[in-house]
Amino acid sequence: MKELQVMGEGMNLKGRDAISINDFSREEVDYILDKAGEIEGNPGMYRKNMWGKIMFSCFFEPSTRTRTSFQTAMMVMGGNVINIDESGSSRKKGETLKHTAKMIQGYTRQIPYDSVVVVRQKKDGSANVFAKEIDSPVLNGGDGRNQHPTQTFLDLYTIREINGEIDGVTIGIAGDLKYGRTVHSLAEELLDYENVKMVFVSPEELSMPEKIVREAINKAEVDVRELEDLEKTLSEIDMLYMTRVQRERFPEGPEGEEQYRRVSRKYHLNREMLRNARLKPNFRIMHPLPTVGEIDSEIDDSVYQHYFKQAENGLYVRKALLELVIGGENG
Ligand code: NCD
Repeated sequence: MKELQVMGEGMNLKGRDAISINDFSREEVDYILDKAGEIEGNPGMYRKNMWGKIMFSCFFEPSTRTRTSFQTAMMVMGGNVINIDESGSSRKKGETLKHTAKMIQGYTRQIPYDSVVVVRQKKDGSANVFAKEIDSPVLNGGDGRNQHPTQTFLDLYTIREINGEIDGVTIGIAGDLKYGRTVHSLAEELLDYENVKMVFVSPEELSMPEKIVREAINKAEVDVRELEDLEKTLSEIDMLYMTRVQRERFPEGPEGEEQYRRVSRKYHLNREMLRNARLKPNFRIMHPLPTVGEIDSEIDDSVYQHYFKQAENGLYVRKALLELVIGGENG
């Protein structure tokens, strides 16, 4: 069924997978963001467009925002959700991803455009296993350290909300840039925009993968800094995109534990640092969430905090994506 995907013909995204952010052109991303904007402004829009349609929600790693916003989006548009998780399915008995995917394919074979599959898994590249087996659109809700394309849609939507446009933005991307999949997708997609400046701030052990830095340097203005430079960086950027240390992706055993302790002690954003900086007038803090201590809780109540609205934006963006890949015309 994937051969029915319409690619490169206008803005028809019907049937499309979202496995990597690189699967989408800038025009397609902008189209999704515009659609999300329309939806945010018209809450009743498309409210019946998922009627009779099914989402297989396969989260084999913990999730609060991605799972809940996808499910809410599906249900407020009249659709149904079937949950398959790690502990309550045969995954627990050792079933392979490929076999789970084959089962879903069997159940959706007759309704490829009336069903959608969202998958999160801890192994890099695992969303591809689903995409190969399943005709319905497969949306990657995060595969290991690799990619989180739908998070990037909401991150870009939020950048646009803060800055007016994405072109010309100067963004600080800080924290665990080695293991964080959200920052990998985001940095890659920002390269499709004009005059973007990215400042990567991290402990050396958790720096952005070289391949991404190299690509970024070719296409945008890029600065790579040590964590000690975070305070100085604050005055130069339109927004700070902070992330947590991805403890679960560190090597197992005492060595990983020690490495985690060393780096997690190092970074923390507090009010003092914000007070000391000469912040730009619309400066805001973004974070994919959850935070685990890297942002002082006082900041939650400050004007700089934008991460809760950022998470809310996930609903609008995911509604837009569902409408575009399996929806009807106008609701
Ligand atoms: C992120 C993820 O799972 O990659 N969370 C999310 O989807 N909003 C970030 C994280 O877990 O740190």
